[in-house]
Amino acid sequence: MPKTTTKKSKATNVKSVDKTKVLFATAEAFPFAGTGGLGEVAGSLPKALNKSGADVRVIMPLYGAIAEKYRQKMTQIFVTRVNVGWRNQYCGVFKLENDGVITYFVDNEYYFKRDKIYGEFDDGERFAFFSRSVLEVLPALDFKPNIIHCNDHATALIPTYFATEYKHAFGYEGIKTVFTVHNLEYQGCYPSFILGDVFGIAEHNRGIVDFNGEINSIKGAIETADIVSTVSPTYAREILVPDRSFGLSGILYRNKDKLVGILNGINTEEYDPARSKAIAENYSVSDMGGKRACKTALKSECGFVGDKPIVAVISRLAGHKGLDLLKGALERNDCIFDGIDLVVLGTGEHYLENFFKGQAAWRGNVATFLTYNKDLAQRIYAGADMFLMPSGSEPCGLSQMIACRYGTVPVVRRTGGLADSIRDCDESETGNGFVFDGYDVDSLCGTIARATKLYGTPEWNALVKRAMLCDFGWEASAREYIKMYEKLIGD
Ligand code: GLC
Repeated sequence: MPKTTTKKSKATNVKSVDKTKVLFATAEAFPFAGTGGLGEVAGSLPKALNKSGADVRVIMPLYGAIAEKYRQKMTQIFVTRVNVGWRNQYCGVFKLENDGVITYFVDNEYYFKRDKIYGEFDDGERFAFFSRSVLEVLPALDFKPNIIHCNDHATALIPTYFATEYKHAFGYEGIKTVFTVHNLEYQGCYPSFILGDVFGIAEHNRGIVDFNGEINSIKGAIETADIVSTVSPTYAREILVPDRSFGLSGILYRNKDKLVGILNGINTEEYDPARSKAIAENYSVSDMGGKRACKTALKSECGFVGDKPIVAVISRLAGHKGLDLLKGALERNDCIFDGIDLVVLGTGEHYLENFFKGQAAWRGNVATFLTYNKDLAQRIYAGADMFLMPSGSEPCGLSQMIACRYGTVPVVRRTGGLADSIRDCDESETGNGFVFDGYDVDSLCGTIARATKLYGTPEWNALVKRAMLCDFGWEASAREYIKMYEKLIGD
C-alpha cells in the first residue's frame, strides 16, 4: 500500500526523483584543500552543475589543514569502520553546506592529519581507505546518487571496487560510475604485492588493475567505469596515441567508446579583474586604466625597470609543462630576453626551481617566486602582458583562461585544452592569443618574438579586449556534463 504523504512532501519527492544526483569524489577541492587544477575544478564545477538543476554533492577527505572556520560549521552525521585490506579503521563522516554545495568529509586523522595531500609514504593505503569509505558510507548518507563521479588517481579505485563488490549489493542499485582523468601522468601505481594486503582486491580480480607487473589504479578505473571523461576534447583524442598516454593508450583505445572530452571552465567570480580584492586596481574591458596600475605594482614587486612587456609563467614547475623549453631558451641566451621581463611563479621539480632561482639572481629581468600563492598569482595575471604555457601536454589548463580574463595574452603550445581554448590571432580574426606547434626552443622563441612585435600596437589592444571577452565560465561545460550524466542514467 502506498504511504500517505502530504501534498507538500509529495511535490518535494517528485522533484528530487527527477534530479540528476551525483556524488563527486575528489582528493581536493577549494576552498577547503587543494594543490592545483583538480582542486579548482572540484571547487567550482559542482556549484555550476547545481545551478543548472542537478544535485551534486562532493565527498573528500577531512584533512588536518582544513581551516577552523569551516570545521566549526560541519556536523558529524555518521561513524563507522572501514576495511583496508586486513585493517579495520575508524571512519567519521562530516557534512557542510558552503556556497551552494553540500560536501561530505571523510574523517580519519591517522590518514589525513598529514602535512601533504599527496606524496606521503603510504598514499596507496590512504586513498584505498578513502575510496573504500566513499562506497561504505554511501547507503547511510542522506543522499542516494545516480552517479558516483570520481577524479584522478586518488579516487581511481572506486570504480574497480564498485564493479567488483558493490554493484549488485543492496543499497547501490542502479548507480553508475564516471571517472575523470585530469592528468594521465599520475596513475596511482603501486607494487603488486599490496593488491590484497592494502587494497583488499581479490586475487581473481588482479587483471583489472594489473599493468606491467604493477597495480595501476587508473587502469582499473578505465576498465571498470561506465564513462571515462577527460578535461578537453583534444586531450581525449591525444591520449589514444602512445606518446601522450604515459603507457595507457592501448587500454584507452580498447575503451574508446566510453571516452568523452569536456573542456573545463573557470570560476569567473573569483577570477574577475573588475572585482578582485587581490590586485592593485580593478579594471574591465571598458576601463583598462587599472591594468596599467597593476603592471606598475607588479614591476616594483619583481624589481623590473623600464617598460618592456612582462611575460608570466604560473605553473607547476615540471618539464612536461614546457619549462624545459623555457630553460633551453634562457640557457642559449636567446635575444627575445633582451626585449621582455619574465616572472615565474610555482613550485615543482628541484632542478627547475634551482634553475629559475638562479636566473632571477643574475638577470635583472627575471623574477622567480617559488611558492603557490593565489593572491600573488592574481597580481601576476593582472600585471603581466603575456602568459606563457608552452606545455608538452596539457589536459586542459586553466591558467590560459584566467589570463584571458585579466587581459594577459596567452602564448601557448597547441596541445590538449590549450588547443581547444586559444586561437592564434594570425590564423583567425577572432584569435585570442598566440599558438605554436613544435615542441622546440625555436618555436617557443619565435612565437614570443611574434607577440612582442605586436605589443603596444592598436592591434594588440584589440587582441587584449577579445581575450577578455572570451566566455570561459562553467555554464557551457556544465550543460555538457549534465547531458553526459542524463544519457548515462537513461542507459
Ligand atoms: C590538471 C591538468 C590541467 C587541468 C586540471 C583540471 O591539473 O594538468 O591541465 O586543467 O587538472 O582539470
